[in-house]
Amino acid sequence: MTNIASIQKISKTYNQGGKKVEVLYQLSLQVKRGETVAILGQSGSGKSTFLSLMAGLDQPDFGQISIDDTDLTKMDQEELARFRSKNLGIVFQQYHLMSNLTALENVSLPLELQRQKEAETKARKALEQVGLSHRLSHLPSELSGGECQRVAIARAIVTKPSLILADEPSGNLDGKTGKEVMDLLFTLCKEQEQTLILVTHNQELSKLCDRCLHLREGRLFAHKT
Ligand SMILES: Nc1ncnc2c1ncn2[C@@H]1O[C@H](COP(=O)(O)OP(=O)(O)OP(=O)(O)O)[C@@H](O)[C@H]1O
Ligand SMILES: [Mg+2]
Repeated sequence: MTNIASIQKISKTYNQGGKKVEVLYQLSLQVKRGETVAILGQSGSGKSTFLSLMAGLDQPDFGQISIDDTDLTKMDQEELARFRSKNLGIVFQQYHLMSNLTALENVSLPLELQRQKEAETKARKALEQVGLSHRLSHLPSELSGGECQRVAIARAIVTKPSLILADEPSGNLDGKTGKEVMDLLFTLCKEQEQTLILVTHNQELSKLCDRCLHLREGRLFAHKT
């Protein structure tokens, strides 16, 4: 199986009030196509930082990040935005839905940005997959937390990206809803043969993944249970 993502010795330091905080230090990771990988780690260990670098939303100070044989560290903002919309599905912890758009419009948007045909039909299908056919014209403010998260998942999968990055997607949900949302994400990933990198605090959830890693002192280690 080929690697979909190859991360070579990335380092990231933030400036906090004139003080340097090293968050990631020479971190390397290879992810195989179709693999599901969980990333655990204490609060503040750098999990979200790592995902934002993988998503090309921020750049490492050193090192290389290749996804689908494309080196993200060599692209400008515009190229990164295009790459993201075509290759990546991102599920943020706080949903990040557009508040003035309905569920259907939120899910159609990434397809419209790619000028795909039949955006609305495809978006309807994705919302059906997450069990929200009865909420198409609702605004995010008219949806529950679990429903918003399912819209966010539909938006992430609708473009059939090869890699899905998810940051604590069940963090704000109650245990039962969180599990339903996660089962759904796993099922959709397997159905569409997508790769998943999942940041979570939940050990039970991490066990559903093919591989479990622990972020500590700026690097990733195999997680011992
Ligand atoms: N933009 C920034 N500027 C300065 N420091 C930052 C910035 N973003 C993150 N940090 C610092 O980097 C460290 C790692 O943050 P990060 O959000 O990646 O942690 P995390 O593992 O996702 O934590 P949590 O589990 O609480 O979400 C923290 O100490 C944080 O204060
Ligand atoms: Mg975080």
